[in-house]
Amino acid sequence: MTNDNQQPTSAAPQNPARRTLIKALGVATAATAGGGLLPGCSAEKKNASRQNLAFAEIPHRLDHHHHLPDGYAADLLMRWGDPLDGFAGNFDPENLDAGEQARRFGYNNDFIAFMPLAPEAGPGEGDKHCQSRNSERGLLCVNHEYTQPHLMFAGYSEDSSIRGTSHPHIAVEQQACGHSVVEIENTAEGWQPVLGSPYNRRITLTTAMDIIGAAAGDQRLQTSEDPSGARVFGTVGNCAGGKTPWGTVLIAEEGFGGAFQGDPDNVADEVEARNHHAFGISPQNRNWGDYDLRFDIAVEPNEPNRFGWMVEYDPYDPGSRPRKLTALGRFEHEGFTLVSKPGQPIVAYGGDDDEHQFVYRFVSSGIYHPGDNRHNRELLTEGTLYAGQFREGGAGMWLPLVFGQGPLTEENGFRNQADVLIDCRRAAKLIGATPMDRPEDVETNPVNDCTYVMLTKNRKRAEGDENAANPRARNTAGHVLEIVPPGRSGERDHVSDSFRWNTFLLGGNPNAESPAERGAYGQQLPGTMSEHSWFANPDNVAFDQHGNMWIATDGCESFGFHDGLWAMATEGDLRAAPKHFFGCPEGAEICGPEFTPDGKTLFVSVQHPADTDNSTFDNPLHRWPDNDPAMPPRPSVLAIRRKDGGAVGS
Ligand code: FEO
Ligand code: CA
Ligand code: CA
Ligand code: CA
Repeated sequence: MTNDNQQPTSAAPQNPARRTLIKALGVATAATAGGGLLPGCSAEKKNASRQNLAFAEIPHRLDHHHHLPDGYAADLLMRWGDPLDGFAGNFDPENLDAGEQARRFGYNNDFIAFMPLAPEAGPGEGDKHCQSRNSERGLLCVNHEYTQPHLMFAGYSEDSSIRGTSHPHIAVEQQACGHSVVEIENTAEGWQPVLGSPYNRRITLTTAMDIIGAAAGDQRLQTSEDPSGARVFGTVGNCAGGKTPWGTVLIAEEGFGGAFQGDPDNVADEVEARNHHAFGISPQNRNWGDYDLRFDIAVEPNEPNRFGWMVEYDPYDPGSRPRKLTALGRFEHEGFTLVSKPGQPIVAYGGDDDEHQFVYRFVSSGIYHPGDNRHNRELLTEGTLYAGQFREGGAGMWLPLVFGQGPLTEENGFRNQADVLIDCRRAAKLIGATPMDRPEDVETNPVNDCTYVMLTKNRKRAEGDENAANPRARNTAGHVLEIVPPGRSGERDHVSDSFRWNTFLLGGNPNAESPAERGAYGQQLPGTMSEHSWFANPDNVAFDQHGNMWIATDGCESFGFHDGLWAMATEGDLRAAPKHFFGCPEGAEICGPEFTPDGKTLFVSVQHPADTDNSTFDNPLHRWPDNDPAMPPRPSVLAIRRKDGGAVGS
C-alpha cells in the first residue's frame, strides 16, 4: 500500500475489501499505511535532526507556569493591555474603556508574523522591507482571536457573560479582537516593544476594509450600511494566517459565527438560513447584536456573509486599508500559507477548522515575479480555489471550485461564482472533497517542499465514517498528513492537480490501550522517544531553517498535561519522532510559533491562560504571567531565545 505509485484518476476509487482490512486491523494499520514508517517526502535521507534538535526535552506537566528546556530564556514581550504608544500609561483592567483598549495590545493572541524592518527604509516602503532578513528589529504582527468577558472584566461567570455582557464591555471586546502591529527590537535586555513607533497599529472590528475578488459587490454581501457590498468594518475570529513575499500579512477569519445572534430559521431565504446554520449562528450566541445591530441577523441577514474570509494587509504601511480576499473562499479559515516560486503561479494552502470540513488549495491566475510588487499584490485576488480529495492508497486530487463545472450549477442553487465562494463548504462537499478531522494549519516545509496538514481532532466522526486520511472514529488526539506534490525536493509541482499523501503521525499516547486513542510516531530507532515526547491535537506549525517541524497543540489538557510545542525531523531516521520543547501554564493553548529569519528567536502566543472551569476575573485559577493580585491572567507573546545566543533547537 505504501509503495503504491499508481497515479490518481478522476474517479474516486472505492475498495471495500481494503476498507474492511483497515478497519479490522485498526490504528496500527492506518499508521503503517501512512507515513509514520515511511522514509519521508524528500529523496535525500539526511539525518540532520539528531544534531539540530539537541535541546534537553522537558516533561509533561500541568501547573501555573510556562516551561522551557535548560539553557533557554523567554522574554515576556506583549501582554493583553500593554500600550502601543508612549502615553497610554499603566494598564488598569478595572477601568478599561473601548478608546483605551484601541491603543493597547488585544486579547487572546494567536497567529504571529515577524516582518523584518530594513534599517534604511521607513513606513510605506514595504518593497524595501520585504527583502530584509533583519532578525534584530521588525514588526510583530499578531492576531487576537476572540474575547472572554468573564476573564477580562469583573462581575461575570462564563454563563452570565454569554447573553449578559454589558454594552460598554462589548465595546471593549470589539476593540480587543482583531490584530496588532507592534515594532519590536532585540536589545541588551532582550526583546522589547518600541512604544510610539509609527508602525504600531490596531486593526479591530471597527477598521474600514475593502472586499475584493469575484464575490465583491454580490447582492449577498450588501447591507443597509453598505449597499455596494464591497466595504466592511472589521474582522473577527482571527485565528492563524500567513505571510507573502511582497511584504503583506494574511489573517484568517475563523469562528466568526459566534459574533452573530438570531435564529437562522427566521431568515426567509432558504439558502441564507442554511448558510447561517452552517456557521453556528443561533439565538444562544453572544449578545453583541443587542447593542450593535449588524450582529443581529434579524436586522442584517447578509452581514455574516461579509465575514469568514482571508484578510490581507500591509504592515509596513500603517495607513493601508485591509482587504478581504474572496478568491480564497468563505469558511472557518484557520489560515492560508504560500508557496511562491519565481515564474510560477502563487500556490496557497489552507484549512477549514470544523468537523468534517475540507483542506483547500488556491492557485493564482497570475505569475509571481519577485520584485514586481505592484503586480504581485494582485495575485491573491484572482485564481482558482480547489478542495482536497484524499484517496485510499495515498493518491490525492485537487478538485476545482468553479461555477458551472460539475455539480456547481443553478440546479444545485449556485447562481454564480460568488455563490460558490460564499457557500464554499457546500460546494466542496458536492464535488466530492474528503471530509477531514478539523483542518488547522496547512503549511509547506521550505526544505523538503512537502506540505503538512494539522488535523486537530474530530469527536463527531462516527464508527464506519472513517476514511483513509481520517482513519480513527471519534478522533480525540488528531493527526498530521504529509502532502507530496510531484517532483523532487525543491522542485515539487504544487500547481499539479494530483499529489501523493501519507499519514505523517497519529497523535496520542503510543501506549494507549484503546487502538482508537493510540498514537503512532516515526520511531525507527529504539529509545528516541521518551514518555514526554508524545502529544495530541496539533494546531499550528512552523518549520525551522533545517526543515524541522515545530507543532503547537490545543487540547493536551484532556490527556492530563499542558499544551505546548513539540519539535521533530521530517526526514531521516528521526522523522516524526517528536521532542517536547515548551509547555503552557494551565488553561492555555499555544499558537503562533514563528522564527526570526536567523532562527535565533522563536515567538509564541500563549492564549487563554487560566481558562478552566469556574475560573473568572474575580477568582482566576492563576494570574500568569504577572502573578500580581491586581492583574488577571493575561494572554501574552513570549520571545524564546537560547541563552548562549545560538539558534533555537540546535
Ligand atoms: Fe482557532 Fe483553528 O483554531
Ligand atoms: Ca485558538
Ligand atoms: Ca488554531
Ligand atoms: Ca484550535
